[in-house]
Amino acid sequence: MNKGFVLWFTGLPGSGKTTVAKSVKERLSNIGFRTELLDGDWVRKTINPDAGFTRDERRRHLIRVAWIARLLARNGVAVLCSFVSPYRDVRAEIRKIIEEDAPFIEIYTKCSLEECIRRDPKGLYKKALSGEIKNFTGLDDPYEEPENPELVIDTEHDGVEENVNKVLEKLEEANLIRFESSDMGMSGEDKVTIHLSRELYEKAEKFVKESGGFSNVDELVEFLLNEVLAEESSEYKLSKEEEEEVKKRLRSLGYL
Ligand SMILES: Nc1ncnc2c1ncn2[C@@H]1O[C@H](COP(=O)(O)OP(=O)(O)OP(=O)(O)O)[C@@H](O)[C@H]1O
Ligand SMILES: [Mg+2]
Repeated sequence: MNKGFVLWFTGLPGSGKTTVAKSVKERLSNIGFRTELLDGDWVRKTINPDAGFTRDERRRHLIRVAWIARLLARNGVAVLCSFVSPYRDVRAEIRKIIEEDAPFIEIYTKCSLEECIRRDPKGLYKKALSGEIKNFTGLDDPYEEPENPELVIDTEHDGVEENVNKVLEKLEEANLIRFESSDMGMSGEDKVTIHLSRELYEKAEKFVKESGGFSNVDELVEFLLNEVLAEESSEYKLSKEEEEEVKKRLRSLGYL
């Protein structure tokens, strides 16, 4: 079973927490993780419909989420939490709760207030600026920037994909995910390492999972190489159908 962990996205409303977290979630699912996204909007609708926006209400709301995340993570789930979570001391409390049981990675989605107001994906800045809603983070409620997060992503200038890759690199660096292909039962001397781009590796893993015909990416790559090399040799020729099948597989993996 994979080891669980918690990715905690914090940042101004509209900075891109949900957008990036959803995309990271998908990538983690593709490499075999069980994942859950605890998103601010969803938790306020379901688990905590009566949560308000005062300092204390925000705190209690987030502490509950931290406990849920902790329970999931200790059972092997990669948990993604996307909450404005504006207060430094509350984030420290959250970290303490989770770190007792699972790794905690704080990710600051950094985006200027001007850009968040320009994006205003839910129209909430507009409402807050016209006084229709109160206690809005960034305007009449503070956002305290993280001082020492595990990762800062610049969601104003860098694209979603670039930032998703940064998150995955951080997880790899922290030994929480691994992209290397697994052992094929050969002795060390018989093996060489082939490097694939992360994107290609993930596609190959997905193919392995869906096809059911191979036990891991190594096996698939070896099979494909054998097929291609056999095609080149004079002793063995693939039939037209076999050739089509190989090409189809190579195409689905992005080789062709
Ligand atoms: N580089 C980027 N990274 C993330 N989002 C971006 C980027 N460029 C543009 N956007 C857009 O900015 C908006 C970010 O909205 P999103 O709901 O993800 O923010 P949020 O931080 O979850 O906000 P909230 O706290 O209100 O839930 C989306 O409409 C997204 O398409
Ligand atoms: Mg959101």
